[in-house]
Amino acid sequence: MPDDGLPFSPACLRNQEPILGVLRRRLPAGARVLEVGSGSGQHAIHMARHLPGVHWQPSDRPGQLDGLVRRVALEGRDGLAPGATVAAPLPLDVTQPDWPAGPFEAVFTANTLHIMPAEAVPFLLAGSARVLVAGGLLLLYGPFRYGDRHTSQSNMAFDAHLGSLDAVMGVRDAEALAPEAARQGLQWLADETMPANNRLLVFQRRRDGGGA
Ligand SMILES: C[S@@+](CC[C@H](N)C(=O)[O-])C[C@H]1O[C@@H](n2cnc3c(N)ncnc32)[C@H](O)[C@@H]1O
Repeated sequence: MPDDGLPFSPACLRNQEPILGVLRRRLPAGARVLEVGSGSGQHAIHMARHLPGVHWQPSDRPGQLDGLVRRVALEGRDGLAPGATVAAPLPLDVTQPDWPAGPFEAVFTANTLHIMPAEAVPFLLAGSARVLVAGGLLLLYGPFRYGDRHTSQSNMAFDAHLGSLDAVMGVRDAEALAPEAARQGLQWLADETMPANNRLLVFQRRRDGGGA
């Protein structure tokens, strides 16, 4: 663990390269990306160091911003990929109406859906649909269930652990997300298998701008 006083997530260190691989393939050149629930800010910095031309907008809930702001101030300028930028982090609670105006070519979030209450997830989908350009991508990284079944024993144990910490937390069902996403005009485009029983779900804002 680096001795720089910044918040640090070992999970981010493990998953940043696999996530970068997907973003390289899927983001258009010069993409404006809104990250929801940036946490330590490690993903923001890693992606901006490796994706030329990307414009990364980190965010997190008010009250969770201090470490993120410090990381971006320290690491968000030097050593970035050509043309890449990291903006000053914004306060954003997905359940609140004050989302940034955007528009963004992508909204990315990692390991947040199982932390926020299930009732907050439709707000994440609706807010993302509002700020995405037509054809823009919503990328959801983390563990997911399918048809109410876990994909591994470890995810099942993790889900039980989350529930023991706080009953509102829990691994979400990917298939149950799809109809709500469709109502918001987000079509399920891809489901990328990631290491350690994680997935990267990719939804696309309908090009005609409409919902289901
Ligand atoms: C497990 S951390 C993941 C942080 C980071 N994305 C990562 O991969 O390390 C969960 C994050 O979700 C954020 N979060 C939880 N509820 C949220 C909400 N309603 N709106 C926005 N972010 C939320 C938390 O503040 C926290 O930063």
